[in-house]
Amino acid sequence: MCGIVGYTGQKQAYPILIDGLKKLEYRGYDSAGVALHSGDDVLVYKKQGKVAALETFAAAQPLTATTGIGHTRWATHGEPSDRNAHPHYSSSKHIALIHNGIIENYGQLKNELLSKGYAFNSDTDSEVLLNFIEDIKINNVCSLEEAVRIALKRVTGAYVILLIDKDLPDTIIAARKGSPLVIGVGKNEHFLGSDASPMLAYTKEVVYINDYELAIVRPDELILKNLGNERITPFVQKLDMELAAIEKGNFDHFMLKEIHEQPQTIQDSLRGRLNAEQGTITLSGLEKIQDKLREANRIVIVACGTSWHAGLIGEYLIEELCRLNVEVEYASEYRYRNPIVSPKDVILAISQSGETADTLVALENAKKQGATIFGIVNVVGSSIARLADAGAYTHAGPEIGVASTKAFTAQLAVLQLIALKLAEIRGTISNELFQTLLRELDDVPAKVEWVLENQVENIKAIARGYKDAANFLYLGRGYNFPIALEGALKLKEITYIHAEGYPAAEMKHGPIALVDESLPVVFVATKDVYHEKIVSNIQEINARKGKVVAVVSEGDDAINDMAEAVMVVPACHEIVAPLVAVIPLQLLAYYIGVERGLDVDKPRNLAKSVTVE
Ligand code: AGP
Repeated sequence: MCGIVGYTGQKQAYPILIDGLKKLEYRGYDSAGVALHSGDDVLVYKKQGKVAALETFAAAQPLTATTGIGHTRWATHGEPSDRNAHPHYSSSKHIALIHNGIIENYGQLKNELLSKGYAFNSDTDSEVLLNFIEDIKINNVCSLEEAVRIALKRVTGAYVILLIDKDLPDTIIAARKGSPLVIGVGKNEHFLGSDASPMLAYTKEVVYINDYELAIVRPDELILKNLGNERITPFVQKLDMELAAIEKGNFDHFMLKEIHEQPQTIQDSLRGRLNAEQGTITLSGLEKIQDKLREANRIVIVACGTSWHAGLIGEYLIEELCRLNVEVEYASEYRYRNPIVSPKDVILAISQSGETADTLVALENAKKQGATIFGIVNVVGSSIARLADAGAYTHAGPEIGVASTKAFTAQLAVLQLIALKLAEIRGTISNELFQTLLRELDDVPAKVEWVLENQVENIKAIARGYKDAANFLYLGRGYNFPIALEGALKLKEITYIHAEGYPAAEMKHGPIALVDESLPVVFVATKDVYHEKIVSNIQEINARKGKVVAVVSEGDDAINDMAEAVMVVPACHEIVAPLVAVIPLQLLAYYIGVERGLDVDKPRNLAKSVTVE
């Protein structure tokens, strides 16, 4: 899940590459590098650390070039270091390559090359692939494009690769399988990127490259081919995104900006779908597969991380409102567990990026066995969106902060719409409850706004009080259990404090042994059918001197006296409450991260889109 960028045209490539790498840095920040075609040579500059370190290093170097490629790394093979940074030179130093993905059979290829006397400067699978390509080019006396095609037929794993060659000025060779690649079409220039953000300032015309496609890119030419050397007509699409959407504006961090965007983004995910006045829901994607849904014995939700937590809420909603069996699967386990999949199954795939490798491959397997795939995805044109039989975009806009916030609440909003529409289709919900929930959902953006306007200072103070805790527990019941899991994940990601989420009643079966006066226990305790039970759970923790912090509904004084600190949210129906109850937990994680002086937008060891297994 590295970030790759490329440019060939009339403009100076270096500043465009650096700006693009900064926009893609959320994909990995272990090292950064560029390769420039100076007209008669390929120049490579690379440095461990963030793009800023590369800029400092390259500042004194010759940078004149109108063609170049750039890379920001999330280390898989070989620790973060200058020598493992991309781009890599081939052994002749004629070709430079950048790679996003994993070459699974690189060990075998490396042995073949070692036996031919090749030496390697790095520990990476990428350098092995490059020398394998060059070896074919030399031995077959063929073009670089042909050598790449031949080599890729012998490679297993995932890749986007970009190459420039000393002997091929103004040319970038690119290929894709399993990792994302977008090409931006300009006037006499072309841009390449892991997503559209590096090219948004220059063009809105893009081509999404599919698996097993190869591109030969020049300023005035874009040639697409498959690995069988057949030409493919590029399908140019228009981007529906503004530059401001991928800039921080007046916020210190993208995460804070995205938390504050949620009243608007939840509105955007409901727009044109929910009409509370007319009491209707329109979901064209769902209507497309409604026969499959009517016949379905069960729904399987497949996702990872925060999207998996949204899936758990989806399970509760669909079981309760649609009376349909739902299973929620970790994609990484589902794809290897050899699960029973039938053509009667409908798979709901939830993914912000639409590029998560585990989810993507799990879906490909299920699709091969006849299941219907419905995608709930945020990134338009992403691989999962293109693989799905039908779907609903979450319309949260670009999410740059590595910790997912606005995409999560947009996923919850879309899952609410799906469950309500499906219940209407299956006739399993009373019109009264249906109308009530439509109005409740319609009120959610204003209630999130209320939390952002009224609770931030309170939550900042709570963050200051708990920033030095070594561990946290997050507890909830019913719909609030997955929210407790999500709160714990946000804290782990942003503050590096160990935290666990649990169903509150599960405490007595072991975890309560952890409780003492040093352990903050965060309860998601908004008013619902479990309220009395959760109050007893809070008393159990108080009895062991745990420090109770609670998310409570406005006016719920019962818990006020039992907790060290409370974070208040407006009262709402328990079925839509998760969309509001999560906001204080996002803010708590953010402000503890800031108090601990951490880079909350680029937490260590993480990347926004996990495109490798
Ligand atoms: C959440 O904050 C994390 N970034 C991570 O758990 C993420 O949710 C997971 O990698 C799934 O990503 P996706 O939604 O893009 O598939």
